[in-house]
Amino acid sequence: FEKNPYYYYNYYYYYYYYYYDYNYHYDHAIPISHLVKSPAAGSWILSAQGNTSLSLQILGFTELDKPGNCSDSDCHPNATCSEFGGYGECTCKEGFTGDGTSCNDIDECQNDYTHNCNTYGAGSCVNTIGSFTCNCSSEYGYNAEFGCVDIDECADRSLNNCDPVAICTNYYYGSYECACPYGYYGDGRHCEINECQQGTPCGSNKECIKSIGSYSCTDPCSTYTVLNDPWRSTSNTYNYNYGDYWYNWYHCDYGLSGWFRFKGEYDQQIPEHCVPRSSCGTTTPIWMNGSHPTGSDVIVDRTACSNYYDGCCTHPFNISVKMCPGGFYVYKLQSPPSCNFAYCTESIYNCSGVHCAPDEECRIVGGVPGCYCKSGIQLGNLEDDIKPQVTCGLGNIEVRFRKCLVEKRGYNTSSIHLRDYSCRGIIERSDKSYITFITRPADGSCGGSSWNDGSVIRYTNTVYLASYSDGVVIRYELPINFHCDYPSDMEINLLTAISTYVVSVINVIGTENFTITMGLFQDSGYTTPYTASQVWLNSSSILYVGVIVTGATASSPFVLVMKNCYATPTPDGSSGPRYEILTNQCPNKNDPTISVPENGVSLKGRFSLQVFKFLGGLDKIYLHCQVGLCDTSNSYCASSCPAMRTASNDNTNVKNITIGPIYQKAAVSSVGVNLSSGGGKREIKVTLLASRSEHAWKSRPHM
Ligand SMILES: *[C@@H]1O[C@H](CO)[C@@H](O)[C@H](O)[C@H]1NC(C)=O
Ligand SMILES: *[C@@H]1O[C@H](CO)[C@@H](O)[C@H](O)[C@H]1NC(C)=O
Ligand SMILES: *[C@@H]1O[C@H](CO)[C@@H](O)[C@H](O)[C@H]1NC(C)=O
Repeated sequence: FEKNPYYYYNYYYYYYYYYYDYNYHYDHAIPISHLVKSPAAGSWILSAQGNTSLSLQILGFTELDKPGNCSDSDCHPNATCSEFGGYGECTCKEGFTGDGTSCNDIDECQNDYTHNCNTYGAGSCVNTIGSFTCNCSSEYGYNAEFGCVDIDECADRSLNNCDPVAICTNYYYGSYECACPYGYYGDGRHCEINECQQGTPCGSNKECIKSIGSYSCTDPCSTYTVLNDPWRSTSNTYNYNYGDYWYNWYHCDYGLSGWFRFKGEYDQQIPEHCVPRSSCGTTTPIWMNGSHPTGSDVIVDRTACSNYYDGCCTHPFNISVKMCPGGFYVYKLQSPPSCNFAYCTESIYNCSGVHCAPDEECRIVGGVPGCYCKSGIQLGNLEDDIKPQVTCGLGNIEVRFRKCLVEKRGYNTSSIHLRDYSCRGIIERSDKSYITFITRPADGSCGGSSWNDGSVIRYTNTVYLASYSDGVVIRYELPINFHCDYPSDMEINLLTAISTYVVSVINVIGTENFTITMGLFQDSGYTTPYTASQVWLNSSSILYVGVIVTGATASSPFVLVMKNCYATPTPDGSSGPRYEILTNQCPNKNDPTISVPENGVSLKGRFSLQVFKFLGGLDKIYLHCQVGLCDTSNSYCASSCPAMRTASNDNTNVKNITIGPIYQKAAVSSVGVNLSSGGGKREIKVTLLASRSEHAWKSRPHM
């Protein structure tokens, strides 16, 4: 009914409608009609709408089925005439607007809703008479339904230039992207195998870096960037009351990536624990869930967690860590998801796991945690405070000072030393903290001296306490003497012999850990060992050889057995001439000088024999013994000689022990000179050539 009512009025009124309302609204109410072409069969509902109250009178329905004669020429050139019910109606063609007798082009481009050229911002509308066209930009194609639409370059290989293995992603804004899949490297247009993603070609402690055509392995320990930001510290926490500048709290690591080492004054690490929000100079601190590696031979992957509103580990992502020689860490960091996220740091060291003695407390000094004496130490009298506890053991002497008392007395415990300046104390922590010296009860050990009066050996040394030290010089040293007295017998003397030349030590593997020592003595009492680095004997000397076992408990069932002992001219006991001394515990019966006072009955063994010399100018002697421990609870350990039967201790686990060389002093030789007569001179020049080398002796005449 909306169609121009005047048109209906003017044209149709006289012909088809008979409308009389003389009494009412004659001038205003204009009857209108609507023509329904090809109405469907059924009930029709007529509803009317208006914006004021109105009354509606339905004048009737008329069925029209009269033939008409309609000609397009009665209409505008761009309108068509349709015949119906005996009349012709001119209607403008699509794309034109008007009443049929006059039709004007509609400019579809003026109205965004009638054209769809620019739906994706990809085209423009061009009006034509009666229609419009879309000018689509290059990656777009025209589609009558949707206008300028994206062309899916990925759907057709010929439309893109991705590598055949690449992943092609189409974008609606007229473009696409090529990306190499995992295992490949390249820009997507060209992809090649990525060796770094095929196993670990660089091992677990190097980083594999791929480049076009090859790859390289780099050690992140030598290619890192130092981050030196004090604000990263976990101890940097926001303090509202302190008037802190707000912008200090917006540090952001967005975009950070690569290998980094954190340093402050000292090396730092990313904390392994959750850090409260508004710490480390940022609102959202990043920590690491997992432990740092303890060895420097591996790069480990860890999860970086951020303390965001919804928990300690929101936005987790991967980082990698490596421990470098020197004990610091380098991290392969990734950019956090946004601002304000930043990596936190704390000292590599902290006091957890540091066990101090009760008179100490742990403090971090210079970045390193250490045990320091508590301040409230009570002093006694001076002499007691600095008096050491001395424990005299056979193998070693222990001298202990109470560290905190000595320090409180004003002495510098880091510079405390024995007579030999290089013998420094070790710090021992038990019920208190101690500075402990370990020295051996042997002449020369740590500058100490020993003195043997025949029945007692006294070892003495001195501890020097300095009250001033700057690490280079020390001053005001207080000497404190101490000594240990030992009864003089073979065992003590052997253990106090300082020379490794005459003492060989081997360990017998067993349930108990024994040490077997062999040494050479000067006397038949086996009390005085040779301590020089070389032993020179004359041909009338007797070799006294003692072997002892230490480390056995009093209840041990073991005794020492010297099974086979022999001498050779070279250190290698397995080749060359060999002189048997003991065979299967029994002495060589051809040598009456051999005496075996102790073997297979205790934890000591002794034998002696007269010095001899190998034939052929070989002047060195090495003594070798196969010794072992024999269990008296299940074996006969002492052998009766000559051996009538195979000793029952054949299964004894024997060890080889060797001492030497022992030199024999050259006998005094007489020198004969034939003086030829003649000549005027009566002078004789005697040149003596001496050498300890057997080759020298052999190859040169000696006079
Ligand atoms: C009718 O439309 C055609 C295009 O369809 C146009 O070329 C022509 O000028 C129009 N005629 C008039 C009288 O507007
Ligand atoms: C840290 O990682 C462990 C093991 O992956 C996980 O069980 C734990 O919940 C994580 N901690 C936090 C705070 O997310
Ligand atoms: C010390 O380190 C441990 C282990 O990483 C950690 O649990 C603890 O919170 C740290 N303590 C301090 C004071 O940083």
